[in-house]
Amino acid sequence: MTPDWPALRAAAREAARHAYAPYSHFPVGAAALVDDGRVVTGCNVENASYGLGLCAECGLVSALHTTGGGRLVAFACVGPDGEPLMPCGRCRQLLWEHGGASLLVDTDRGPVPMTEILPDAFDAAELTAR
Ligand code: THU
Repeated sequence: MTPDWPALRAAAREAARHAYAPYSHFPVGAAALVDDGRVVTGCNVENASYGLGLCAECGLVSALHTTGGGRLVAFACVGPDGEPLMPCGRCRQLLWEHGGASLLVDTDRGPVPMTEILPDAFDAAELTAR
């Protein structure tokens, strides 16, 4: 399945329009291609209790499951300027869980596999391996 990167970025920009970011004023949108061809999106949703804010990736993963599950194959995230935004550390782990090593992530230097932005990842295999 070949990702349409411009379309994914456009979907991420559209998702960012729905962000709830009254504290950081930093709207973020995320979009991903699922292995069955559908596209799921998410936006950041902050909270007056600052530490409880949800990244755009959290909403995207929730949308993945509420719309039928599957594996993420290509992911794009944009910041307030509409340009690629690298996922935070916690969200790299979240993306790994639902896309694994081969998930492609949009960056300023083009798509890169998850192994490049989360090397030597911990994952569920560790839980049964020892
Ligand atoms: N943010 C995301 O939504 N995803 C990321 O990967 C990086 C950060 C959000 C969290 C917070 O609402 C705002 O950006 C500023 O940190």
